[in-house]
Amino acid sequence: MNPTFRAPRGTGGEYTPPPDKSITHRALMLAAISSGKSSITNALATGDCVSTRKCLEDLGSSIEETDHRLVVRGAGLRGFREPDRPLDAENSGTTTRLLSGLMAGLPIFAVLTGDRSLLGRPMGRVVQPLRLMGARIEGRDGGKFAPLCFLPGSGDLAPLEFSLPVPSAQVKSCLLLAALRAGGTSRFSGRTSSRDHTERMLAALGVVLERQGEELVVSPPRSLPAFEIVIPGDISSCAFFVAASLISGRDMLVRGCGLNPSRMGFLNVVTRMGARVESREERVSLGEPVGTLRVSAGELTGAKIGVEEVPELIDEIPLLAVLGLFCHGVVEVRGAEELRFKESDRLMMISSLVEGLGGKVEVFEDGFAVEGPQELRPGTIDPGGDHRIAMAAAVAASGIRGGVRVQGFECAAVSYPDFVRDFIALGGQVA
Ligand code: S3P
Repeated sequence: MNPTFRAPRGTGGEYTPPPDKSITHRALMLAAISSGKSSITNALATGDCVSTRKCLEDLGSSIEETDHRLVVRGAGLRGFREPDRPLDAENSGTTTRLLSGLMAGLPIFAVLTGDRSLLGRPMGRVVQPLRLMGARIEGRDGGKFAPLCFLPGSGDLAPLEFSLPVPSAQVKSCLLLAALRAGGTSRFSGRTSSRDHTERMLAALGVVLERQGEELVVSPPRSLPAFEIVIPGDISSCAFFVAASLISGRDMLVRGCGLNPSRMGFLNVVTRMGARVESREERVSLGEPVGTLRVSAGELTGAKIGVEEVPELIDEIPLLAVLGLFCHGVVEVRGAEELRFKESDRLMMISSLVEGLGGKVEVFEDGFAVEGPQELRPGTIDPGGDHRIAMAAAVAASGIRGGVRVQGFECAAVSYPDFVRDFIALGGQVA
């Protein structure tokens, strides 16, 4: 699928984003280790979250779909059964890392693997601290990469005091999930400030989890209760159309969007660049705020994004490069070396995206600088199978007469299966 995206009159209007990927993963996993029958409404039902669902089913979870709801029968904190084939996380780092925390030390033998992109992503960052908790995990290159192999343990783990070296919500969540089966209180310090869905959801389920300054302190519960959740819209998916509307100079009204403060970095930056953003919280679902966003376009200036801000907008950084092409000033991102370990080396892919449209970008080891506005031309972009690069390329079409062709656009389905439908509904054309 190699569609050409065009937006001669720009894109904008009213819109509901697809369900949040990070929250869907966590809802499925927490439901699977709860004691009872949980209900998940509006779950993301493609790509990465399907990988999580299949892995949980291979571990013995019963997950049924009725009336647009998933009903999950929890097996308890230690109830997974030994899978009779390798667990396949496909393209999903979140599945691999969070599931590692759930499985570490259980009395089962399990192999966890994935696609070519996943096999190249660093897993030592979870394997090493899980080993400190007593889990026996082997893997390629001494456990630095998947496939990972989990050897049977007693079901319980030792409590851990650990300083997180990377600002990764996946690593933090992996360890928080493992700490639910520890024989005492665990403490996590260091780079703990990243998306906090796991913390919010666990706290909403009654787990004693406190933030003491930079430190996260978690005490293991006896069990987790079953729950109901309505998954909010994904603010990272929504960001594509916010960016497209800003390039087009059109307004957006977004309904049912997750408004978790640890995911608001992109909106904070576009506000600094000159957009007007208003948010209204309407409900809270399992600790997650949900509501409406109004975004009004203005003339965009540049912005500097430093290391502190990166974790709050890590997935939106390719979009900031695209916005830089159309703003009046320089968009500079620093402290984002983690982008090199995503579904692709996203700093390298940002450079090939910009250059593929005739633009210029300076790429550093830990970020990039783009000065706008630039003269761009229609082009064909190969996103290298990375969903967020593919959609960022489509967004650039809002500012390029003649459009942008994206090769292998089907990769967008891992997080946003209906991107093409929404692009058209908001005023764009796809041929
Ligand atoms: C995610 C965390 C982030 C993000 C990914 C989803 C999560 O990864 O890039 O899309 O659900 O925890 P890192 O934790 O590796 O930064």
